[in-house]
Amino acid sequence: MQLVNKIPEHILSYIKEIGKEADSLNLEAYLVGGIVRDLILNRPCKDIDIVCIGSGIELAKQSSFKIESASKVAIFKNFGTAQFTVQDLEFEFVGARKESYRQDSRKPIVEDGTLTDDQNRRDFTINALAISINKNNFGNLIDPFNGVEDLKKRTIKTPLDPDITYSDDPLRMMRAIRFASQLQFSIAEKSYESIKKNAERIKIVSMERIAIELNKIILSPKPSIGFKLLYNSGLLHFVLPELAKLQFVKEKNGVRHKDNFYHTLEVLDNLSKNTDDLWLRWSAILHDIAKPPTQRFHEEHGWTFHGHEVVGAKMVPKIFKRLRLPLDGKMKYVQKLVALHLRPISLTKENITDSAVRRLLFDAGDDIDDLMLLAQADITSKNERKVKRYLSNYEILKVRLSEVEESDKLRNWQPPISGNTIMETFQLKPCKEIGIIKNAIREAILDGEIPNEYEPAFEFMKNEAAKLGISVEV
Ligand code: CTP
Repeated sequence: MQLVNKIPEHILSYIKEIGKEADSLNLEAYLVGGIVRDLILNRPCKDIDIVCIGSGIELAKQSSFKIESASKVAIFKNFGTAQFTVQDLEFEFVGARKESYRQDSRKPIVEDGTLTDDQNRRDFTINALAISINKNNFGNLIDPFNGVEDLKKRTIKTPLDPDITYSDDPLRMMRAIRFASQLQFSIAEKSYESIKKNAERIKIVSMERIAIELNKIILSPKPSIGFKLLYNSGLLHFVLPELAKLQFVKEKNGVRHKDNFYHTLEVLDNLSKNTDDLWLRWSAILHDIAKPPTQRFHEEHGWTFHGHEVVGAKMVPKIFKRLRLPLDGKMKYVQKLVALHLRPISLTKENITDSAVRRLLFDAGDDIDDLMLLAQADITSKNERKVKRYLSNYEILKVRLSEVEESDKLRNWQPPISGNTIMETFQLKPCKEIGIIKNAIREAILDGEIPNEYEPAFEFMKNEAAKLGISVEV
C-alpha cells in the first residue's frame, strides 16, 4: 500500500524534516497510531504521533528547531512525551516503551522498548500500525497484527489477549466502543466478551477520561450504535446508570408502555441527523431521564410520567457534576431543553392561542429552534400516519412561532419598562411592589393584553401601580 502518497503535502514536508533529524540523532522514528489509521481510512487527522527508539523528547526538541513556525516544545516528563504545534497540527513524540499507555500514571515512564514492544502495548490492531520516517526506509508500513486487514474487515480487535490490553488501561473498553460507533466497525468477539467480563474495572478510570470517550460516542454519526454496546456490555451501568435504568417495560391490566431506553436512542439518532451540537445531543439523552421515578399507573389513563420534564431537569446538574461536564451555560442549556421538551408538542393541538405561542417563545428564548429540533426528534411512533400528522403540525407551529416572533419580538425579551423606570416614575426605593408591577407588565404582554412597546406598557404600569395605591408624584 502506497501510504506516503496519501499524506497531505504540507504534513509530508514536516515529517521528512523530522525523519532527517531522527537520522542525525541516529534514532529510528515512525508515524504511529491514529494518524496511520486515518490515512488508510482517508479521514482527516491533525494529531500526528511519532514514536522513536530512544528519546522522543530529544527528537521533538531538535525537530522544532528545524521547522519554521513550530511552537515551543512542551515536555511531559512523567509521560515521557513532548509535543509542539505547527499551525493547527499537533506533533506528539514518545520513546518506544515496554509499558502500556497509562495516562493516569504518576510514575515516570522509562523509554526502553523496541518498536514491537510499543506496538504490543497499544490498544487495537488498527491503532498499532507504524510507518517508518527515516530516510532509508521512508514510507515502510509495519503492521505486526494485521491492522490493515482489520481496517478492511471493519473490526476492532486488541493486539494481545484483550484481558491484558484492557487491564493495562480499562478506558480502552470505552475506546473500543467509541471507535465502533465513530467508524461503524464491529468489535471482535473475544475483544467484546472481555469488555463484558471486565466492565466493572472502568471504575478505576477518572471521570474526565470517561467523559471524553462518552462525548465522542455521542458525536458519532449514529450514536445508538455506541450506546447499545455500552448497555449490552454492562459499561453503561457504571458510566451513566440513569440512562441504563430507562431500559424496562412494565405491564399492568394488559397495558404496556414503551421502552424508554430504546426510545431515547431513537430520539438521539433522529436528532443527530440534524445537528452536530454536543449539548443538544445531550438534551436528547436526558430528555426522559426522570421517567422511572415519575412512573404511575392509573386505571383510567394507563401509564403516566407526569412531571418527568421537571424532575429530569433537576437531575441534570448531578449527572453533569459526576461526569465532570461543564457546569456553566452548557448545563443550564441542557436543563432548559429537558424542562421544555414537551411544550412544542402540547402546542400542536387545535385552537392554540397566540398567548401560548408567545409564552413558549418567551421561555425558550434563543433556544427555540433547538427545542423544536428536539421535539421533532422525539416523535418515534411506528405509525407513519401519526408521524406525518405530528410533523405537519410542527410545521404549522413553526409558522405561528415566526409570525408571533415577527410581531412581538419576544425572543430574548427585555421588558419595555425597567425596574429603574418604575422607581423613578413613582419615586420608590427598592421594594417588592416593583417586582409585582414588572410581573404584571410581562404577563399582560404575554397574554396579548398590551403590545410589547414602551407607551402602552407605561400606561399599564400606572394603572397597576394605582391598584397598589401608588401614584405619580406631581
Ligand atoms: N493509545 C492506547 N491506549 C489508550 C490511548 C491511546 O494504546 N488508552 C494509543 C493508540 O495507539 C492510539 C494512540 O495511542 O492510536 C493515540 O491515542 P489518541 O490520540 O487518544 O487517539 P487516536 O487513536 O489518535 O484517536 P482520536 O484522535 O480519534 O482520539
